[in-house]
Amino acid sequence: MKKSEIQRRRFLQSTTAAGLALAAPSVWASEKAGEDGALALLGGKPVRTKPFLSWPIIDESFESDWADVLHKRGWCRLNGDYVSRFEKEYAQIMGVQDCIATCNGTNALIGSLNGLEIGPGDEVLVPPYTFVATINVVFMQHALPVFIDTDPKTFQMDPDKIEERITDRTRAIIPVHLGGNVCDLDKIMAIAKKHNLAVIEDACQAHMAEWKGKKVGSIGNTGCFSFQVTKNLSSGEGGAIISNDMKLMDRIYSYHSNGRERTNTYGFRYINNGTNMRMTEFQGVLLLHQLGKLEERARIREENAAYLTEQLKEIPGIAPAEMYEGCTRNAYHLYMFRYDSSQFAGVPRSKFMQALRKEGIVCSSGYSPLNKEPFIESSLNSRAFQTVFSEEHLNRYRKENQCPANDRLCNEEAVWFLQFMLLGDRSDMDEIAGAVRKIHHNAQKLAQA
Ligand SMILES: Cc1ncc(COP(=O)(O)O)c(C=O)c1O
Repeated sequence: MKKSEIQRRRFLQSTTAAGLALAAPSVWASEKAGEDGALALLGGKPVRTKPFLSWPIIDESFESDWADVLHKRGWCRLNGDYVSRFEKEYAQIMGVQDCIATCNGTNALIGSLNGLEIGPGDEVLVPPYTFVATINVVFMQHALPVFIDTDPKTFQMDPDKIEERITDRTRAIIPVHLGGNVCDLDKIMAIAKKHNLAVIEDACQAHMAEWKGKKVGSIGNTGCFSFQVTKNLSSGEGGAIISNDMKLMDRIYSYHSNGRERTNTYGFRYINNGTNMRMTEFQGVLLLHQLGKLEERARIREENAAYLTEQLKEIPGIAPAEMYEGCTRNAYHLYMFRYDSSQFAGVPRSKFMQALRKEGIVCSSGYSPLNKEPFIESSLNSRAFQTVFSEEHLNRYRKENQCPANDRLCNEEAVWFLQFMLLGDRSDMDEIAGAVRKIHHNAQKLAQA
């Protein structure tokens, strides 16, 4: 795992307990947070001294079913029904006909690509602003991930830059609802229809997000989710594929369980090539017991994020991620904003974040530009890619692999807060905004320090 990703995952796991109770009446932050005082980085008192909430949240209701699985030795989904019960309930919540649980989100994407028969020689349109798995799974099919630059206002794949990258090899689009915000699905689905492309929604960070009232993941050919430990719904590792296309889902089910027929899950009869990406019953128990909390937690994050945005957007140089008009619910896996150093006396983002952390506010600068990472070139130079694609094709790909807006976002502008920071109350939001305001007030001093 790359160093930046290890740091990101550590960062996600690094904060500890507080409560989930909602909203004591808000106190305007200025006095309470000591915004007018010296920056903690320069020897002053920090705005926040208490830790944020611990994630994932342990629910006592897990325990008896967990013990049931353990003692009955029904650890595999073939010997129990927790995973299949989860699949049914999750499909219902998502408003789709079918759900297949997987061992993680990466394999949910792999299952979708295989079900849709996307393979060697194909091109798949992807964003560069995502977790590396979105790109890796395309390479694993010996298909080319073609990068669409990012819309910096929303942090999503820029829908107006998709069509220019379509060729006669293009087979699919993977819109990633990054941070729980939602891609422009109207434009993306219209382009897909016009060019006969499949759409695999990477909703790994977007549980409960909505586009025009429909859950994301339910709009493309398939929707893929991750339940990795940092996600808004978590079983440590885990994933799911949802869809309304039952024929496709039967193929994916077979692929996910060694090529067995869906109706003959135990048999030694194999109708397709497949792998094993089954979820365990232990994961099924953890997920099943959290489904009842999904709606409430989504609402709390949304309300706190809206409150935080009202404060942050008033600070010069801070631009919270916007939503497209059709986004009726942002899942806020990440609270993302752009930082403009010119409004902070030229203080670079890294120093701004250092000051913010000293004020007691955890934050991350997020992803590096994935389309520039060395794994792209090493994949293109692999034996498989040299066999499948001509050198001329790969050279053209190299030349066109430019995403300048994304480079700026990754290298200079993006700052993230994490979903569990939004599960507190309004005083937590006041402290976050208060710390940013305090740094803005003291930017000149910080620049000179
Ligand atoms: C956007 C995105 N896609 C795919 C994945 C892969 O999911 P997993 O880690 O469960 O394999 C993740 C997880 O971090 C993700 O954030």
